[in-house]
Amino acid sequence: MKKSLAILMAAMMAVTAAGCGSKQEETTAAQTTEAVETGDTTAAPEDAETEAEAEGEETAATGGVLTMGTNAEFPPYEYYEGGDIVGIDVEIMAAVAKEMGMELQVEDMAFDSIIPAISSGKVDVGAAGMTVTEERKASVDFTNTYAKASQMIIVKEGSEIAGPADLEGKVIGVQLGTTGDLYCTDLEETGSTIERYNKGFEAVQALLQDKIDAVVIDGEPAKVFVEQSEGLKILEEAFTEEEYAMAVKKGNTELVDNINAALEKLEADGTLDEIVGKYITAE
Ligand code: ARG
Repeated sequence: MKKSLAILMAAMMAVTAAGCGSKQEETTAAQTTEAVETGDTTAAPEDAETEAEAEGEETAATGGVLTMGTNAEFPPYEYYEGGDIVGIDVEIMAAVAKEMGMELQVEDMAFDSIIPAISSGKVDVGAAGMTVTEERKASVDFTNTYAKASQMIIVKEGSEIAGPADLEGKVIGVQLGTTGDLYCTDLEETGSTIERYNKGFEAVQALLQDKIDAVVIDGEPAKVFVEQSEGLKILEEAFTEEEYAMAVKKGNTELVDNINAALEKLEADGTLDEIVGKYITAE
């Protein structure tokens, strides 16, 4: 029984991780739990498989499901807690979907796959602490902004790098495809080397191992990563100031309008502050 339970858990996690979950029949937690109780240990993995298969065939945005693309390597906005993706963006979008009378489905993917997934219709909306940039506006439409952010510099304690100007000629780690990557790439002309990692956390690991001199990443995940490790600090001076928004397929003004209306309502009734307050403590 122990082993089959473990298999069940793994199957459930796989379902959550893949962000699957079919449109009409939500056969996730409830049914799998039921299977555990009745000792019908074969039912759940099969369900999970059916769901995974069904997911590929259906198109997004039908049947009252709002599909959100994200990259769950970005605490506190989106990250894994056990097998679940949690965080500010997930909660905001769940509340937005509820306002729209829809159910949220989360799809985890590489950060630089989110915009292509929006454009191809694989997901309806990207919510990933995504900074509004002119370049991205050429490929997607953005909702109203919902957070202010900055790219911050993480260094080892005792580093000679004291501010953005000192990054020249240094080896800088960033998460691939992020604004940190974009802006640091400009520094390549000044002799800096940019190391691009799939996960921000991997850049922080490389810094700890002295493989790189600094990490440029958004302020909130920077705080989380620095808290998790010894001997790192965030420099006071920000590298850039930015704003986050949700991204949708170019020309889908209806979805932008609906999300904006929901965001306005959630802002007015205090839900947004409440969600942010759960994850970020004001200094
Ligand atoms: N704000 C930065 C950008 O838009 C980084 C976002 C990274 N988000 C994530 N979920 N990994 O490029």
